[in-house]
Amino acid sequence: MSMTIISLRAALQSLPENAPEAVVDHLFASHLLRELGFESEEIHPQYNTGDGAVDKAARRTIGDDIFLHTKSNPYLLLELKGRDVNLSEDAAQYQKTVKQLKNYLLAPNCQTIQWGIITNSCHIQLFRKHGKVIYPATQCLPLDADNIDNVVASIRKKIENPTKALTIALYNNKGGVGKTTTTVNLAAILTFLGKKVLAIDFDPNQQDLTSSLGLPLSKGSVFEALKERNIELQSTLHPYKFPLRKVNSELRFDIIPADRELTDVSENLLRNYFKFPTLYDKLEFSRQEYDYILIDAPPNWRVFSQLAVYAADVVLIPTKHNNLFSLENAAIVMKKFIPEVQSQKGDGSPIPLPIFFNGEKITPFQLEVAQKEINNILKNAQKEGFDLLSYFYPKYTNANRDLRIHELPSYANIAGSAFSRIPAVYRDRSAHEYYKNLAKEYFLQ
Ligand SMILES: Nc1ncnc2c1ncn2[C@@H]1O[C@H](COP(=O)(O)OP(=O)(O)OP(=O)(O)O)[C@@H](O)[C@H]1O
Ligand SMILES: [Mg+2]
Repeated sequence: MSMTIISLRAALQSLPENAPEAVVDHLFASHLLRELGFESEEIHPQYNTGDGAVDKAARRTIGDDIFLHTKSNPYLLLELKGRDVNLSEDAAQYQKTVKQLKNYLLAPNCQTIQWGIITNSCHIQLFRKHGKVIYPATQCLPLDADNIDNVVASIRKKIENPTKALTIALYNNKGGVGKTTTTVNLAAILTFLGKKVLAIDFDPNQQDLTSSLGLPLSKGSVFEALKERNIELQSTLHPYKFPLRKVNSELRFDIIPADRELTDVSENLLRNYFKFPTLYDKLEFSRQEYDYILIDAPPNWRVFSQLAVYAADVVLIPTKHNNLFSLENAAIVMKKFIPEVQSQKGDGSPIPLPIFFNGEKITPFQLEVAQKEINNILKNAQKEGFDLLSYFYPKYTNANRDLRIHELPSYANIAGSAFSRIPAVYRDRSAHEYYKNLAKEYFLQ
């Protein structure tokens, strides 16, 4: 291997203009991985993911466990392309390569993987994997001799300091679709399953999450913490505790309650205090502390929703199969609101997760009607240049025209739980199963 002290920059410059994959591999890949902090014995070429071979897998040596020898617990995958493959974000080959990487990241031998990279030496993009969720950690960045050292250093910094938490905003600008109910019960079930969870009531006008758990409203302290540079949002945490008497223990997750002082503040004034990154910045303390951060947003596209979506890695969008507006609004979130935030944030996040149907009984006939509506929505989106297929029909492939959308059934004990101030999943076996299935469908590996 030509691994003398030639710099990554020089390696890039040595590449022929149309270098095919084998040449990019030979002249560039090892240098890149070295710059990302991996020695040669920490890199495995043609790693068997259990679902095909990925070009490189890498992991730092732990004690005497050398990755090249034990092949165990990979940390990062690299899917390499030649310069003849166009990896700019709007290219079809880019979409295909991302799909390929995602398959590898979810393959059986890749449970421990935290990161995935695609590159052809002209572009590079880093993806984060958290449980089942894969989302961009950078945009797809063009590489050249002038920027490569900085770009690769910034990627290295990310992969060496992975955030523990996945931040999820629950959002649909259609009201009453189950955002708050999903936030509460998802927080509760993830806690039950051993995860450390923070739930944020970011709908100060309705305050439903806070009141459904029987917690006191904040009397100005959340507002202060968001507004003042030197006040930590951490100081506003409130635990929700559910006793497990039989085993003399308790379940506990943390809440940032709604702040009643935020209810009467005008949108204009709020915009003076809060910028898109305000909540994201204030949550810095929590990203190494929790496994999941769930943010309940209000049903409009105003300041609280915007801050919630900006703070998120991914956006979970509840819909109702029999409410056309909830489906159309889901598409608007994907086509308009999320891209608006992405362009401000600049790291490729947040991305939408596929929709689910919440809380309505569905007959086969109604399902057919809903699919017709969705097909129209997809067709119109395509005319505007958006491919939303995988966000509505995540199981659909060309080979397998599977139109299933995850359903969370309608269930009286889910609706009734707010009155008891206890999440339904802690009171009711069926509710417990429904939300466990939701957590498994979207988040848990
Ligand atoms: N799976 C379900 N089964 C039965 N009832 C449900 C279910 N999900 C939500 N509900 C009920 O539907 C109503 C609306 O739900 P929720 O308040 O969670 O929606 P939301 O999207 O947060 O509303 P808003 O837009 O007003 O914030 C509530 O009364 C809730 O109890
Ligand atoms: Mg709500």
